[in-house]
Amino acid sequence: MSATLIKDVKDKFVETFKADPLLVFSPGRINIIGEHTDYNDGFVFPAAVDKGIAAAIQKSDSGHSTAIALDLDSTINFELDKLKPSKEGSWENYVLGVVAELQNRNIVVGDFNIIIKGNIPGGSGMSSSAALENSVVFGLNELFKLGLSKHDMILISQKAEHNYVGVNCGIMDQYASMFGIKNNALHLDCRTVESKPYEINFKDHQLMLINTNVKHSLSDSAYNDRRSACESISELLDVKALRDATEADLETIIDKVTPANYQKALYVIQENNRTVKAAKAIEDGDLETLGALIYQSHNGLSTQYKVSCDELDFLVEQAKKNKHVLGARMMGGGFGGCTINLVAKSEAKAFAETASKAYKNKFDKACSVYFIQLSDGTHLVRQTY
Ligand code: GLA
Repeated sequence: MSATLIKDVKDKFVETFKADPLLVFSPGRINIIGEHTDYNDGFVFPAAVDKGIAAAIQKSDSGHSTAIALDLDSTINFELDKLKPSKEGSWENYVLGVVAELQNRNIVVGDFNIIIKGNIPGGSGMSSSAALENSVVFGLNELFKLGLSKHDMILISQKAEHNYVGVNCGIMDQYASMFGIKNNALHLDCRTVESKPYEINFKDHQLMLINTNVKHSLSDSAYNDRRSACESISELLDVKALRDATEADLETIIDKVTPANYQKALYVIQENNRTVKAAKAIEDGDLETLGALIYQSHNGLSTQYKVSCDELDFLVEQAKKNKHVLGARMMGGGFGGCTINLVAKSEAKAFAETASKAYKNKFDKACSVYFIQLSDGTHLVRQTY
């Protein structure tokens, strides 16, 4: 958690609304392996990180509600009985969407003011959106004593994303952001929405992110298209979700699907299996195997599921050239954002430098390197400054 972020939203809140706010921190997430498996009822392996969204929130008696995004210097005023989605792609929909979902469930909240500020680079694939949604629902739950469980809250956040943002996301991001445990990754079963924590101590290796600093357009529609493709194939297979299918099952319908969709479904089935194998490798401290699974995951995402891009593929190729990197892959929805790398601690900086230089030469733009800490999920911040 960043103390500076908390201080910034608190100071601004006191200055703007002359009231003492509740303070919430909600983290972004990484994902070790298990990409695009969550909406197929499969397994994922995320962890909350030490970057996220700080929110200051308090009731309002002005007759309307106000939300301020401090880093964007953007303010909206809204009335709770007249909610509607704002323009596509705006930060406002994450806030308004959460309030609308509460109302859809007949949960009553009063007017409120909220100020948010974050340090997750937009489009990095570290899920600033889930962090924001969770900060809003968590803050409102505390403020209006709604009695929602964490499970209730993440479902509300997810629905906000479906209905107001227009991305039919799975549950991984909201879960990891809400339930994160310091120094642990969560092996999450997205069907039962229950996870097993794994303490992550890779001894002389560590996880490192490299951000391509690109986010190619159309990624939202490509995401939704892939989800629909998976759902139509499960229907053909007469299973609830691809999680229930095997490669042999898929063979039986090979003539009924396009080769492209066949590869996508095959990827999901294989990635789900890889995620289970990765949990075992972590348990056994077998980093070579974990790394190999991570490379295979990228290969599937790039060549079968087709959600990578030149910049991500290039960074993974750089990793493959370096024997101190055991595994690397794109992370999150795809079409830009970060790669996650499993790299020897003693060589991490050198690899980061070489990869950054090569990236600059190739694309004439800089990538960014993040060393992250695995952290606790969404929580109230009690200290005052
Ligand atoms: C995005 C979505 C998640 C998940 C990942 C891909 O981050 O929000 O639900 O599907 O993409 O694994």
